[in-house]
Amino acid sequence: MDRILVIGGEGFLGLKLVRALKQGYDVAATYYKTKPEEAGCEWLQLDIVNPKATKDCISNLKPNVVVLLAAVSTTFGNMEEIAKVNINGVRNVVNACQSVGSRLIFLSSDYVFNGEKGLYKPEDKPKPSTPYGISKYEGEKLVASIPNSVILRSSLMYGWHEPFQHKNFFTKVLTKLRGGEQVVTFNDCYRTPVYVGDVVRVLGAVISRDAKGLFHIGGPDYLSFTDFAHKIAKVFQLNESLILSKPCNMSLPKLLGLDAKATEDFLGFRFVPLSQGLKLLATGGEAS
Ligand SMILES: NC(=O)c1ccc[n+]([C@@H]2O[C@H](COP(=O)([O-])OP(=O)(O)OC[C@H]3O[C@@H](n4cnc5c(N)ncnc54)[C@H](OP(=O)(O)O)[C@@H]3O)[C@@H](O)[C@H]2O)c1
Repeated sequence: MDRILVIGGEGFLGLKLVRALKQGYDVAATYYKTKPEEAGCEWLQLDIVNPKATKDCISNLKPNVVVLLAAVSTTFGNMEEIAKVNINGVRNVVNACQSVGSRLIFLSSDYVFNGEKGLYKPEDKPKPSTPYGISKYEGEKLVASIPNSVILRSSLMYGWHEPFQHKNFFTKVLTKLRGGEQVVTFNDCYRTPVYVGDVVRVLGAVISRDAKGLFHIGGPDYLSFTDFAHKIAKVFQLNESLILSKPCNMSLPKLLGLDAKATEDFLGFRFVPLSQGLKLLATGGEAS
């Protein structure tokens, strides 16, 4: 049975991936601060900034596949702090994978683009404009130096999270609307939100098919944060008048979102439309 190591297994995507993979693989996963209470998987503490610890972890386990999800995902913030994990940490994982011959799958982001065009295709040239985007693009370049590696660039994910995980746009809006609070949304920032369960599906398919190269992951709806919030309110039957809308006054990339048609064709499935994904979450299609 193939052994898979998920680095960042306690995160929003990581824990869902671990739960799916342990059905068919020998799974080990790392956590940084919080060890999840998830059985059926070997949990190891790892700070990827530490080159020796990273090398020891990977050379002891000798996994067939390493899925690298650990990252600092603050959009802005200090470049030096972000680079420690998202560049130096990635380099440590790349070096360790090369030394034992593990295949590496890396999660990147549509923030590698500057947000002037939207619906980016895999052949569009990245031009990041935020510290996070710059770090993810540098991470991509390091990962691409390993033959057989996979880079999965994802747009904004939505889904339920554990209490110890960060909120996402979906759960932030839902919490506010359920509490009767107003929620301010940007009407000029566009994304292609993707159901987190679909990202797990892509990872499963990429692992089982031995795929390699660059893939874009994004849902079929290209819409603003304001329209996203209205869809949430509609599906969960909450008060839409609490949704306030304004242009973004920060240097956030405006028109992001990924064209994922090539990924859909290659893998032979369609990403769920936003309304359908939200209905799945509302009806317990995925545990909260
Ligand atoms: N969520 C999205 O919408 C989205 C969209 C596009 C791409 N991505 C990418 O997809 C991946 C997974 O995203 P996610 O939302 O699931 O992230 P997440 O919940 O923030 O999980 C990332 C994990 O990495 C851990 N970590 C941070 N620094 C570390 C270090 N030095 N060594 C080891 N682990 C460390 C974090 O631990 P602590 O929490 O304890 O700090 C966190 O649990 C990330 O690479 C992200 O850039 C996410």
